[in-house]
Amino acid sequence: MINVALPKGRLGEKVYAMFEKAGYECPSIKENSRKLIFENKEKGVRYFWVKPSDVSIYVERGSADIGVCGKDILLEYEPDVYETLDLNMGKCHMAVAAKKDFYDNNDKTLRVATKFVNIAKKYYASKCRDIDIIKLNGSIEIAPILDLSDVIVDIVETGTTLKENNLEVVEKFLPISARVIVNKASFKFKTEEIEKINKSLKEQVEAND
Ligand code: PRP
Repeated sequence: MINVALPKGRLGEKVYAMFEKAGYECPSIKENSRKLIFENKEKGVRYFWVKPSDVSIYVERGSADIGVCGKDILLEYEPDVYETLDLNMGKCHMAVAAKKDFYDNNDKTLRVATKFVNIAKKYYASKCRDIDIIKLNGSIEIAPILDLSDVIVDIVETGTTLKENNLEVVEKFLPISARVIVNKASFKFKTEEIEKINKSLKEQVEAND
C-alpha cells in the first residue's frame, strides 16, 4: 500500500490527476464529500488531503510514503525527506514587499513580518542586514499598513493580494514550485513502486514542457 499526502486545494487536485494517470486511480476521491482519506485496495493506494504546509510532516514521519509540497516549505522547515522531482507547477516567488513609499533606512533595524522566519532570516543575513522578525500566521499583507512592520516576506503568485492592499514588490528573491517528496524509509522498502510513480510523474512533467 502506497500512502500519498496531497495538498488540499487546486494544486492537490492537479497532483491527484497525475497520480491517476500514473495508474493509481481512486475514483471515490472525486465524490464531493468532507472525507479526508480515500483508498483503492485493488490499486494498493491511499490518499489523504492535508494542509499544504503539513504535507512534509506526514512524509517525514512516515504516515505518507510520498507527497507534494512547495519548495518554500522545504526551505523553511528542512524536513528530513528525499526531494525527487520538480513538478513545475504551483509556481510563485518568495518576495520582499512594502508600502509604495517604503525607503530602507540602513541605520535602523528592519522590521520584517512573515510566516517564513528561516527563509527571511537567511535572505537578510546574506545582505548583512539587521532585522527584527515578526512571525505571523496569515494576512501578512496588513502588517506594513498597520505599521506592525516595515516590510513583509511572503509568497507572491499573481500579485493581486499585494496590489489590493496597496503594497508592491521590493525584490523577488526565490522562485518556488511544487516538489515531490518521499519518506526515506519508504524509498528503501518500497523502492520499485515509488520509482514507478516518480518515473510516470516525470514523464508527465516533461510532456507538459
Ligand atoms: C499566499 C500568500 C499571499 C497570496 C499571494 O497566501 O501568503 O497572501 O497567496 O497570492 P497572489 O500574489 O496571487 O495574490 P495563501 O492563499 O496561500 O493563503 P495563506 O494566507 O494561508 O498563506
